[in-house]
Amino acid sequence: MNRHYVLALSIVLLVFIVSCSKSNSAGSSLYTPTSADVTSTATLTDLQQGRALYVNNCNNCHGLYSPDDYASTQWKSIISMMGPRTGMSSSEILLVTKYVSRGK
Ligand code: HEC
Repeated sequence: MNRHYVLALSIVLLVFIVSCSKSNSAGSSLYTPTSADVTSTATLTDLQQGRALYVNNCNNCHGLYSPDDYASTQWKSIISMMGPRTGMSSSEILLVTKYVSRGK
């Protein structure tokens, strides 16, 4: 009886830990731009604004994908489809593109 209780408790705890770590990893996979991320086409401000615009505009219909999920060329075609769905201006969409493609 006692062993079953411990087992059930362990399972509940395990499920809890797994579900927590999942939601955490989704958030932490969005890098915070630093001076190391600056490129010839993306300033630190560009990347910071791009991140904020991305977080605020791209999760209305689905969760936020990590910039690491796609190559920069893939991001460009994804953003050309997704950007217009958000109501952002073209200059804002460009900043989001810089953030997710890491300035490439
Ligand atoms: C109006 C709803 C809506 C908004 C806003 C939106 N998306 Fe999407 N997104 C979708 C839907 C629906 C799909 C599923 C497949 C499709 O339609 O291409 C999708 C799929 C995706 C995918 C997966 C593409 C693939 O090939 O697997 C990515 C990445 C993505 N969106 C990024 C973004 C980004 C970045 C933004 C902000 C600029 C954004 N989405 C805003 C509706 C939206």
